[in-house]
Parts: sequence; C-alpha cells; structure tokens
Amino acid sequence: HHHELDIVRQAGHIGAEVRGVRLSGSLQPEVFGAIKAALLKHKVLFFRGQQHLDDAQQEAFGRLWGELVPHPTVPSRDGTRLLELDSRHGGRANSWHTDVTFEVAYPQVSILRAVVIPAYGGDTVWANTVAAYESLPDDVKALADRLRAIHGNDYDYAATRSPADLDEEGTKRYRDVFTRRLLEAEHPVVRVHPETGERSLVLGHFVKRLAGHSTHDSGHLLNVLQSHVHRLENTVRWRWAQGDVAIWDNRATQHYAINDYGDQHRVVRRVTIAGDVPYGVDG
Ligand code: SIN
Repeated sequence: HHHELDIVRQAGHIGAEVRGVRLSGSLQPEVFGAIKAALLKHKVLFFRGQQHLDDAQQEAFGRLWGELVPHPTVPSRDGTRLLELDSRHGGRANSWHTDVTFEVAYPQVSILRAVVIPAYGGDTVWANTVAAYESLPDDVKALADRLRAIHGNDYDYAATRSPADLDEEGTKRYRDVFTRRLLEAEHPVVRVHPETGERSLVLGHFVKRLAGHSTHDSGHLLNVLQSHVHRLENTVRWRWAQGDVAIWDNRATQHYAINDYGDQHRVVRRVTIAGDVPYGVDG
C-alpha cells in the first residue's frame, strides 16, 4: 500500500515541508515509509505544529529510524538521549557541518525540535552534499574520489566565530565539555550513500586536514570542495516556529545555525540515529 504525503518543496535543490502528519512513535508503517522515501529524496524535511511532542515522544519517533545514540561528549538531558542546544549555554552551531563526523560511524539521521525560538533571527540553513559533488568538474570529482580527511571534535572555533563569540563564558564552557574527550576519525571525502547509491561530499567544520597533505594544501583543496557545498543555490533556509521539527539525512547534508539573534533565547533539542561506517567510491 502506497501512502501519499502532502509535500511542499522549499527550494530548487533541497528541502521540503510535509503537511498533515502528526509525528509520533506509532506512525502507520506506510506513513513512516513515505516519510523515509521523502527524506532520501529531499535530504531535509520540515514539519510545522508538532507542539504535542515532548522529550519522550521525540525519542519514540526517533526510534522508528533506528538506534538513538547520545552525543559522545556533551551530556544528554536527564534520563534521555536528547542533546539540548541552548543559546545561553554556548549552543550556537554557527558554522557549516555534518553532525558528529569525528566518530567512525557517525549518525545517519538527526531530528531537531524547536523548543524556544527568538522573535527574529536564529534560522538554520541546510546544504545538499550530493548536489555539491555532482556540481564538481569531472577532474575534480576524480581527485575528490581518492581523498580522505581527518575529522576531530577539537576543531578550530576561531576560524568561524567572531572574537566576541569566543570571549563569551557560555561558549567557552560548552567548548570545554565538547572536547573533554578527544575523538578523531578518518573518512573518505566522497561517500557512497548506503541507501541511494548517490555520492556525497563528507566535509564540514570537524575536518582538520586531508590525509597525506599538508595543513596548508588541505586548506586550499578543502575550500574548493566546500565552496560547492554551501553555494546559495544548493541550500534551503528554515524560519523556525516553536513546535517545528526538522529531520535531515546526515549522510547527504551539512547545516549552519545562523547566530544573528543576540541575547534572545533559543533552545532546540536533537536526537541522532546510529549510522554506519562510510565507504568511498572504491569501497
Ligand atoms: C545542530 O547543529 O544540530 C543545531 C542546528 C540548530 O541549532 O538549528
């Protein structure tokens, strides 16, 4: 039995809103199957008006996708596997990244729920890393296919954050917790998606350098590849309302939480679903 969802695309190359679904841990299998198919196609899905979800229900919905994995260094909310990002405690992920790529098998899917949203600002932008790969010239694709990158959780915040951000107490504390255990993983720069077979770029702010290249050369090569990820034509920007839920395929996207809301309060909660070890073009 095939279920038809009400899907409204939000941009040309990534992102769709799904209407008329009340998310829960007890969705009909055909509805869940249709959501999953839509996610593989659109890479990020948005659901408005999910205020009925509490922490336990967000987790129950998450379990439909697979095993929930807590963040490896940031403690989960009491009694849950939820990561809370609170603007008052340094939870501002304002640079391009894929979640938790410093782990060998990083999460396949993230589910984010908007709990407190500022009156203005605080949008999140996603980019399609499959379309980014496809937009590369053939020679650059062939190079990228062979590269591997080292990812770590002690990435350089200073590269993307302003000095004012770095002076902020909450940011410093969050960073200390984030790096209390140092984690590193090496991944192919081009991964083959285990469900769609599509090739995507595995980059983002946790990359430290390319294996076998100097830090200097890595920077230049990474800039060329990353510029194809976040060009605006390859992105979708979501204006949050409290109760919204976003689900993204963490194997085919990067995202960036815009830090433009000053002292206003913003709280989001995320569950991530266990992923597998990425494999490259040659296995
Ligand atoms: C994240 O990086 O998962 C958080 C995104 C956001 O705060 O909107």
